[in-house]
Amino acid sequence: MSQAVDECGVLTIDGPSGSGKGTVARRVADALGWRLLDSGALYRLTALAAMRDGVRLDDIAGVSAIAAGLDAKFDVADDGDERILLRGEDVTAAIRNENCGELASQVAQHDEVRKALVGLQKSYRKPPGLVADGRDMGTVIFPDAGSKVFLTASPEERARRRYKQLKEKGISANLARLSIDISERDKRDATRAIAPLRPAADAVQIDTTGLSIDEVVALVVELVRDRLSQPQL
Ligand code: C5P
Repeated sequence: MSQAVDECGVLTIDGPSGSGKGTVARRVADALGWRLLDSGALYRLTALAAMRDGVRLDDIAGVSAIAAGLDAKFDVADDGDERILLRGEDVTAAIRNENCGELASQVAQHDEVRKALVGLQKSYRKPPGLVADGRDMGTVIFPDAGSKVFLTASPEERARRRYKQLKEKGISANLARLSIDISERDKRDATRAIAPLRPAADAVQIDTTGLSIDEVVALVVELVRDRLSQPQL
């Protein structure tokens, strides 16, 4: 384990959409008192900013320039909900809809765009620790993380969770459509040439189908505490 990991614990949580990553990452970060990096939101914000600036998503240089200069801020509102600002404007609802997820997945395929976001993602690594949520956190961005988790769940369960999440946010959704969209997005994320969705060789894989959020959070927190208590090489 590297010295950097001693000074600043890093837990990576990767997995497909609907695997529970986002909720688990936030809860684990709270439990450990660590910062949180929602890397998917950075791809969503990049796609949204490009659309707003009239930059076509296939204009890779244009989208990369937007990613490189991304003015993003993550906040917690008074009611405890997340609040995401793009250039000072609250875009939380806009980036959480399925369409934005789809656009994010398109821009995320390009190496230039991914590289433009590396520095920003790494800048979140500060003591006492970081929980990094995404697709390539354990494989590409923080390969030396002290703890790595890869969450999965059956496709049906993931579509159901996403449906519930969107409904709770007052966003309309259709379960059958959602199921198709999720599997298409997963396929694109898993088969892309650059930083495909896959577990790091040293990641602990947890199938969350049938587990409650509390159970998954407890498992992950235990794993991190276990790793932190082990003597570092
Ligand atoms: O996790 P979330 O659904 O917000 O991510 C949106 C999209 O951003 C994903 O479908 C994926 O294509 C892309 N992404 C990525 N690498 C990450 C996080 C997200 O390619 N680390």
